[in-house]
Amino acid sequence: MREFKGKSAIVTGAASGIGLGIARAFAAAGMNVALADIEEDALARAHAEIKRLGVRAIALVTDVSERASVFEAAAAAEREFGKLHVAVNNAGVSMHNQRLAEIAPRDWDWLIGVNLYGVIHGIQAFLPLLTKHGEEAHLVNTASIAGLQVNPDMHSAGYAMTKYGVVALSEGLHNELKETKVGVSVLCPAAVDTLIYRSARNRPDRFGGATERTSELFLKDLLAAGWQPDRIGARVVDAIRSGELFIFTHSQTRDWVEARHERLMDAFDRAEAWEKAHSA
Ligand SMILES: NC(=O)c1ccc[n+]([C@@H]2O[C@H](COP(=O)([O-])OP(=O)(O)OC[C@H]3O[C@@H](n4cnc5c(N)ncnc54)[C@H](O)[C@@H]3O)[C@@H](O)[C@H]2O)c1
Repeated sequence: MREFKGKSAIVTGAASGIGLGIARAFAAAGMNVALADIEEDALARAHAEIKRLGVRAIALVTDVSERASVFEAAAAAEREFGKLHVAVNNAGVSMHNQRLAEIAPRDWDWLIGVNLYGVIHGIQAFLPLLTKHGEEAHLVNTASIAGLQVNPDMHSAGYAMTKYGVVALSEGLHNELKETKVGVSVLCPAAVDTLIYRSARNRPDRFGGATERTSELFLKDLLAAGWQPDRIGARVVDAIRSGELFIFTHSQTRDWVEARHERLMDAFDRAEAWEKAHSA
């Protein structure tokens, strides 16, 4: 997709952080934007800001972990804009500094509900709208560099598990849609200066309600030293234009992915040696 002006987009998790950075970049490119988020105050502020950029914008209070809520957001965006050209499944929550055996049952439900089901619901609700008008369109899923390797120092494998899933969904969609006019990308950033270390501020009641999780405060300085969300937004717009499946941002994280691949290749070497030693 190359032309953005006058087209429309929906972004989940658009009230703050990366989602707001992407929404700003879309508005700067002349797109109308539907902002979907669970945090009402932040959403109202983001809505006012995007409208000031001179495009049409709507704010949709949405819980991506609830299928019906995402379908309502999709219907509202279609009612407002007619056609939908870009959808970004971006809403997500962190689960860092939590050993796997210690994650509470309802936190597993919340993590998988937002990070994985949120994207699945978005695919099911938004994709039919992206395809039905027959014009060029694009779907972006926000994973993480944690979707391609598990950080050995962060006790974040529960989070990484959901992001591996988002990468797999995106690769699968890319295969399924490659003969169509709908492009697919998966965004895989490392540290971005956002409030993700305070994700539990938005934990819905059915998963235990809002809370402050001090165990994740260690991320604050690390993220503050990372990319700004607006830089991510600019990167995403350019990557949609050039049709990139994997949107990498922090190029130094190549080393992390390479290290994992080396471990995989070593394991294949051992498989080959075993096959030779045990040939029939
Ligand atoms: N910040 C980083 O370093 C980083 C790195 C890699 C990937 N990511 C991913 O980027 C995405 C955005 O996170 P962020 O860093 O901007 O964090 P953020 O907390 O600043 O923004 C996340 C947004 O999602 C919203 N949200 C949370 N639960 C929701 C729900 N159930 N329904 C709808 N909206 C909900 C929040 O209200 C918030 O506005 C996430 O998927 C995250 O995993 C972040």
